[in-house]
Amino acid sequence: MALFRIALLLGLLAVAATGACLHLLPPGTISWSTLEFPRNTISMMLHYAAAKYGHLRTTGQVGDGREASVLAHVQKTVPAGNAESVLKAIDELAWGGTFLMNVGPEKGLILDEVIRSNKPCMVLEIGSYVGYSAVRIGSQLAPGCKLYSIEFNADNAEVARGVVKHAGLDQTVEVITGTLQSVTEVLHKEKGVSTFDLVFLDHFKKYYLGDLKLLLHEEFLKTGSIVVADNVGYPGVPDYLEYMEKTSDFETARHETKLEYSKTVPDLMLVSSYKPQSLGHRTS
Ligand SMILES: C[S@@+](CC[C@H](N)C(=O)[O-])C[C@H]1O[C@@H](n2cnc3c(N)ncnc32)[C@H](O)[C@@H]1O
Repeated sequence: MALFRIALLLGLLAVAATGACLHLLPPGTISWSTLEFPRNTISMMLHYAAAKYGHLRTTGQVGDGREASVLAHVQKTVPAGNAESVLKAIDELAWGGTFLMNVGPEKGLILDEVIRSNKPCMVLEIGSYVGYSAVRIGSQLAPGCKLYSIEFNADNAEVARGVVKHAGLDQTVEVITGTLQSVTEVLHKEKGVSTFDLVFLDHFKKYYLGDLKLLLHEEFLKTGSIVVADNVGYPGVPDYLEYMEKTSDFETARHETKLEYSKTVPDLMLVSSYKPQSLGHRTS
């Protein structure tokens, strides 16, 4: 029995050491086609270990410098002013073993469709991270339209600003450091925002419902405003899901999908259209 335990321990150590080495190798060093799955899985596991036990859940960073590496990678590999290539470069980095909690290419298509069919002009995102979805949304807005993207980690906000600028979208997308609560006055008074046509919730899951209620309280939503919520399936946002399923003030469509940069983990996105039943709501 003791021998079995030692063998098991040695086996686990070997897997962990191999994983750590694979994770530390810079992207593009060798062809990852055969190693993509283990490398990606290990990077994702590190990410979710940081989310559960590490400082990701308080700081919004994994702790291994991967967020800063995104900006360096984009600046090094993509010519300035090409949003599509910026997204492709970030996706390649994430698929290649540097897991990033972006909305990603598959769920990104759901977001794209919402933008295509609703043509929002005043947009709010909560949770910029490295600016992937900000570039994705910003690149589809009509001239003169605006995306405000709120990010509470100042370092992430800097990375996002750099990525947005490199994509040539710094006139359309403004990354604001803070939380919805802390920047409400800035949005109302300094930026002159009345209502948002589209809100993308993609920050810490425990804040989704509270921030939705704050948006309603501040009258940032009008009839027809769309609220898109990511990660409702994984890691899951049960209180928000229950609220959206019960309320008659929103019409909600469920989009079954996969977690970003995963071919297996199921996720769910909610697309909710504000149709307030009570009198006195905003229509413009
Ligand atoms: C899932 S990532 C956002 C990914 C990004 N929307 C994308 O698809 O490219 C979540 C981000 O939300 C930030 N965050 C978490 N809670 C926040 C809050 N209350 N207000 C603003 N940002 C927050 C984290 O620091 C992290 O950068």
